[in-house]
Amino acid sequence: MSLEIEHLTMQFGGLIAVNDVSLTVKPGEIHGLIGPNGSGKTTIFNVVSGYYKPTAGRVAFAGKNISGLPAHQITMLGFARTFQNLRLFKTMTVLDNVLVGMGHHAKTTLWQQILDPVGVQREEKALTDKAMALLDLFEIADHARERATSLPYGNQRRVEMARALATDPKVVLLDEPAAGLNETETDVLRETLLKIRDSGVTIFLVEHDMKLVKGVCDVISVLDYGKKIAEGAYATVSRDPVVIEAYLGKEEEL
Ligand SMILES: Nc1ncnc2c1ncn2[C@@H]1O[C@H](COP(=O)(O)OP(=O)(O)O)[C@@H](O)[C@H]1O
Ligand SMILES: [Mg+2]
Repeated sequence: MSLEIEHLTMQFGGLIAVNDVSLTVKPGEIHGLIGPNGSGKTTIFNVVSGYYKPTAGRVAFAGKNISGLPAHQITMLGFARTFQNLRLFKTMTVLDNVLVGMGHHAKTTLWQQILDPVGVQREEKALTDKAMALLDLFEIADHARERATSLPYGNQRRVEMARALATDPKVVLLDEPAAGLNETETDVLRETLLKIRDSGVTIFLVEHDMKLVKGVCDVISVLDYGKKIAEGAYATVSRDPVVIEAYLGKEEEL
């Protein structure tokens, strides 16, 4: 089930944030999306996940047009995302942040709790077990009962990823997951991303850390001023003069 972005344009007033971009994220791959600040990466994520309706072009998933669908419907089709800036529920525990990702609180009605308390308990146990398994994957299970925002930043990012995966997505959009992480944490993140991909989840990855991009991406699309300027394996893209030129003078490393 490919994610196809076709001639996508997103305009904000006079500013063309995304300009006629086409790319295909293939199932089971880690597809990198890189480019200098302001080149339109997050905007593409916002369009794909249903926050903006594109000015022109379309987004299709498994052959079906999904552009313009509301965000919750896109989630139901199998998309999950994390944000460039952390968005955790500040007063909740780590575990509850992940359970919320599963739509846990919407699942049992008051009537179910009255009529079938045992069934409800069984379901809650299953959800908790699954959430704990995800926390385990991110090596933060020991912190399950702590308030999410009391954890160091790197661990908070892990909570956010665990929450995104809790919806059992087919595709996960990660917006700069290595931002603010130290080198050791980034190394762990690389292993985790590979594990997620190997479990069958497709990853669409916006990332500035080129070592991470190099280490995990099967293919990379490069944006500059809203346009796609290159695409291919890291080795090809990183040697492309057009790409090097785009990064020069922007104080960003390729
Ligand atoms: N909601 C918005 N309204 C107006 N301009 C926006 C909006 N979102 C993004 N932009 C602009 O679109 C351009 C691309 O932004 P963005 O997609 O966030 O870039 P990136 O993630 O690559 O750094 C920037 O010039 C940004 O200021
Ligand atoms: Mg961004």
